[in-house]
Amino acid sequence: MNLKLRINLIITVLLFLTLIIGGGIFTIKNARGNVQAEIASTAILALHMLDSEILYYSSVYGMVSPAGVGEGSLFQLNKLSDVRHLKIDFYDSFGHLQDTNQSTQLEDLPPSWFISMMDTVTGEMPATKRQVYGRGQIVGELVITPDPSYEIAEVWEEVQGMLIFVGIFFIVVNILIYYSVGRALRPIDNILAALTELEVGNLTSRLPQFTLPELSRISDKFNVMAKTLEDSIANNRHLTQQLIRVQEEERKSLARELHDEIGQHLTAIHVDASAILKAKTVEASKASASAIDTVARQMMDIVHHILQRLRPSGLDELGLEAALGELINGWHHRHKEIEIDYQIHGTFNDLDETVLITVYRLIQECLTNIARHAQAKNVCINVLRNEEKIIVSVKDDGDGFDTSSKSIGFGLAGMKERVDILLGKFELESSIHHGVSVNIEFPCVRSKDK
Ligand SMILES: Nc1ncnc2c1ncn2[C@@H]1O[C@H](COP(=O)(O)OP(=O)(O)OP(=O)(O)O)[C@@H](O)[C@H]1O
Ligand SMILES: [Mg+2]
Repeated sequence: MNLKLRINLIITVLLFLTLIIGGGIFTIKNARGNVQAEIASTAILALHMLDSEILYYSSVYGMVSPAGVGEGSLFQLNKLSDVRHLKIDFYDSFGHLQDTNQSTQLEDLPPSWFISMMDTVTGEMPATKRQVYGRGQIVGELVITPDPSYEIAEVWEEVQGMLIFVGIFFIVVNILIYYSVGRALRPIDNILAALTELEVGNLTSRLPQFTLPELSRISDKFNVMAKTLEDSIANNRHLTQQLIRVQEEERKSLARELHDEIGQHLTAIHVDASAILKAKTVEASKASASAIDTVARQMMDIVHHILQRLRPSGLDELGLEAALGELINGWHHRHKEIEIDYQIHGTFNDLDETVLITVYRLIQECLTNIARHAQAKNVCINVLRNEEKIIVSVKDDGDGFDTSSKSIGFGLAGMKERVDILLGKFELESSIHHGVSVNIEFPCVRSKDK
């Protein structure tokens, strides 16, 4: 059963119970009180009249023969058929019914459950008997019994009218509730539709503003979440494209270097080696051998450079401190005009390789940026490792840049990405003319084999 029907049903049941318990019990209790009061007052009146009639007959018709009474017309009870709340019977001295005021039976009886609910009325009102004398003898007995059936039938008619009214009220209220609940829950359909859109990959799906404040907050949060998801997937796509592009460029540049440098040098070695083979004098051989030696040294430098680009030298063998030392010295050598203050604290040899390469690449990108964009005079690099985390900070006093207006490039995005992978924090502070400060920290991930 859906939510709309369920809410409808709950409200209907509650309404029904309220009406039945409140309205039904109150009406019946009230009706019983009324019936009782009406019957009691009619009984008192009828008793007074009958008493005076008995008195009248005893004094005036004191000589009336019991046979005259036996004709059953003494009290002419059939003329009292309008007194419907009382059953008045006259029995002769032999106990035979001689006269009664209720010769007709009620045709449209209320249902038995209703009668039994009202019936306690009669239990509380016993029958009244009056003995009738003639010539000093008992000639009969008047029995006056309260009869609430007419009154109950009247109440039943009223209750029936009320039930029809309640029925119509119920149908109308139910339709209104169904319509209002449907209207109130319409945003849920929108939310479900938007979630389904996201599920099938439509990241532009957004929710409208709802009038209900709670749903409006859900809509705001949903829209922010969908926007973040959309941005992050777009960012990832962009990064992957950049990664592929950089990878291809790296391969192209390596291929070019291998072709241009190594190829040329190998050709030179080949030519010099052939010259040695063909040399007729020792001097000629020596000259070619020395040329081979020079070319081989150049090739060693080239190979070292290529390897350095592929993988920082010394990181595996000598550790992070030495590799960073070499990186920073090499950079300072190329940028002598910039002062470097470099501090490193802690031991790093138990850390995972990913952590080490991340610290190295982060500092490398910071230095590249400083060289390319900063015009700085001083650079301060701090690397600190404690029990739980590694903290890296690189500050310069260069031109800085407006972080709010400038979109970050692949370098900074890549740094952030590397830190995110290690569940760390990346923070960049900068404003124009105030240099750049990059602060990074991430948890220590220890190497499995150490
Ligand atoms: N130390 C710095 N001083 C001044 N500006 C900087 C500094 N670091 C970064 N920036 C600014 O931030 C921008 C983004 O840097 P990022 O490293 O992401 O990209 P990039 O260096 O331009 O290109 P690449 O993708 O090759 O790294 C730079 O273009 C530069 O304007
Ligand atoms: Mg850069």
